[in-house]
Amino acid sequence: MATEKAVQFSKTGGTEVLEINDIPIPKIEKGQVLIKTVYAGVNFIDTYFRSGLYPVPAFPHTLGSEGAGIVEAVGDGVTKFKPGDNVVYMGSGTYREYSLVPERVVSHVPDGLKLEEAAAVLIQGLTALTMLRESYSVNKGDTILIHAAAGGTGLILVQLAKALGATIIATASTAEKLEIAKQHGADYLVNYSGGEDQWVKDVLAYTKNGEGVEAVYDGVGKATFEGDLKVTKRKGTLVSFGNASGSPDPFVIGRLGDKNIKLLRPRLFAYVATQEEFDHYTQELFGYIKNNQLKVNIHKIYPMQDIAQAHKDLEGRATTGKLVLKILQGQK
Ligand SMILES: NC(=O)c1ccc[n+]([C@@H]2O[C@H](COP(=O)([O-])OP(=O)(O)OC[C@H]3O[C@@H](n4cnc5c(N)ncnc54)[C@H](OP(=O)(O)O)[C@@H]3O)[C@@H](O)[C@H]2O)c1
Repeated sequence: MATEKAVQFSKTGGTEVLEINDIPIPKIEKGQVLIKTVYAGVNFIDTYFRSGLYPVPAFPHTLGSEGAGIVEAVGDGVTKFKPGDNVVYMGSGTYREYSLVPERVVSHVPDGLKLEEAAAVLIQGLTALTMLRESYSVNKGDTILIHAAAGGTGLILVQLAKALGATIIATASTAEKLEIAKQHGADYLVNYSGGEDQWVKDVLAYTKNGEGVEAVYDGVGKATFEGDLKVTKRKGTLVSFGNASGSPDPFVIGRLGDKNIKLLRPRLFAYVATQEEFDHYTQELFGYIKNNQLKVNIHKIYPMQDIAQAHKDLEGRATTGKLVLKILQGQK
């Protein structure tokens, strides 16, 4: 039987549970595209599955949510792709050599974009774009707050929000990270490592009459959620889209009435659930890259064998931009 290498885990836990196993290469099916993955993007959500914060359907579980590579074969009914095409895709279990995914979550890699850049930008780019378009539709002249602004998703949020005409207050935990956010378009910088009282005060000082921001984009979660409620202006929007510091505590919705704040906890996959939505936002995202409004920042490309180190670096706040995994190509 033809086998491939895959990063899996058979029990939840720290990075020690990660293992590289040989598994069967999936058989091509109707409407599906078999992709030889060259690079897989590493996302914070992968660590949630590994740690057990998010459940997985069964063990062993193959990690990874996106990849870029070359079409190996297409199933009956597939019209947009042919073997040899360079593609980028979303899917479950992409830290592996061959992924079998439905045609509707695959896109051609546009000319001028490297495969590793495509693997780096799809999920975080679509997340940033849909949050800025749908969770709260950013208007020119809005002042918004972006937390963890030097992270993978953060740096894309900053660049796209800039392209949309927003004034950006960026937070991060170090001066070096804040400088990177500034280079990508952040207008005001706040180091939030001094604690909630301080960063809330600093953020409010950058807003008109100290009234707060039109919208907060928060992938940090537990550590920043309470402060977010303080810096969101009356009738503003709080987009809480991640848990890098843990999930926010349970919330009594009546509290929103103090300032009539809108609170969302959106997930990308519900914004790009149809072919039309996936294609629309993917093309818009690639358009920003083509127009030089969005630069893809790769922190480091890790060989597949070093996946544990990649997770350690991401969870240890030691990275800026995106982590990418170079998939080990074995023998068929
Ligand atoms: N809802 C969705 O559909 C969706 C999709 C994609 C991503 N996300 C979320 O977006 C967030 C960012 O994801 P990413 O992959 O782009 O990661 P990332 O931002 O590159 O890395 C996470 C960053 O969060 C900050 N952070 C603050 N407190 C932390 C803590 N206790 N432990 C670790 N990091 C902490 C760190 O920056 P500082 O050192 O500057 O604090 C760190 O670099 C995650 O919460 C992820 O789940 C959500």
